[in-house]
Amino acid sequence: MILLTGITGNIGGATARALLEKGVRFRALVRDRAKASAWADQGVELVQGDFEDPESIQRAFVGVDRALLVLPNGEVQERLELAFIRTAKDAGLPWIIKLSSPEAVRGTQSPIPLAHIAAEDAIMTSGMKWTFVRPSFYMQNFRGSVKAAKATGKLSMPMGNGTVAVTDNNDAGQFIAHVLTDADSARHQSQCYDITGPDPVMNFHDIAKVISEVIGQPVVYDNYDPKAFQEAIRPFHRNQWHSDAVATLFAEIANGRTPGHKTDTFQKIMGRPGRSLREYLNTLV
Ligand SMILES: NC(=O)c1ccc[n+]([C@@H]2O[C@H](COP(=O)([O-])OP(=O)(O)OC[C@H]3O[C@@H](n4cnc5c(N)ncnc54)[C@H](OP(=O)(O)O)[C@@H]3O)[C@@H](O)[C@H]2O)c1
Repeated sequence: MILLTGITGNIGGATARALLEKGVRFRALVRDRAKASAWADQGVELVQGDFEDPESIQRAFVGVDRALLVLPNGEVQERLELAFIRTAKDAGLPWIIKLSSPEAVRGTQSPIPLAHIAAEDAIMTSGMKWTFVRPSFYMQNFRGSVKAAKATGKLSMPMGNGTVAVTDNNDAGQFIAHVLTDADSARHQSQCYDITGPDPVMNFHDIAKVISEVIGQPVVYDNYDPKAFQEAIRPFHRNQWHSDAVATLFAEIANGRTPGHKTDTFQKIMGRPGRSLREYLNTLV
């Protein structure tokens, strides 16, 4: 039995959709059954639980042989992921698949990738079989950029000359669903999969150009002052920790500390290219 976490969010939800398309039965741990009722309607077995409550995680693990670990960024992410990993180990979970990030590279000062590094380290020393799936910068991070670019003619982000490779959320979910269900599961164990779409590594001038072509009007990259950006994103995040952490992460991209890197992993494992940024943006216009 597969256990998913995070199905009311981006990647867990995309993984759940992909599993349902394959006709695979699975269980999902959710905090709020009502919020997940559409999944129950499609036959998903829901277990009410919370990472803050290890007993609920233990209950969810009964009869499970592989589990996907997803948590959003936040000041509790590292503590809760480490607790989940301990509970999984104690419950004898055979195989854990963790959603991580390619920015989780030693030497980072940014709390978001540092939390991923701590969880990856704990998993690798736990004795469980493991797989890390690390999608690059989500295309969905540009969800609001099309509307803003139409209004202002700008892509305003504090990315300097930094570069990213980009990945579509749905591709990430389909990739994880493939890993979870491949008959040859052993080939995916002890693998750290950094996945990207087919686009080349781009700086933010390149991305502004793609947005411009998609909306059919000029768009320039506006290198937003990092401090002003941090203030502007504050209302959209849960708390100061979160907006500070995102600003630190973006500063590491801007100063080239974590340059984008494209991989052919998605193409090799899935036998098809992922969605391009242009294809994704076209769905927004
Ligand atoms: N943004 C990027 O470009 C990027 C790139 C690569 C990797 N990542 C990584 O992706 C991860 C986030 O994935 P996402 O975008 O899919 O997250 P998301 O959309 O924010 O979804 C988070 C999920 O976790 C659930 N959750 C939160 N707290 C929980 C708790 N205490 N107990 C049980 N469930 C809980 C949420 O449930 P509720 O509905 O109950 O809140 C939701 O289903 C982060 O670790 C991030 O570092 C991001």
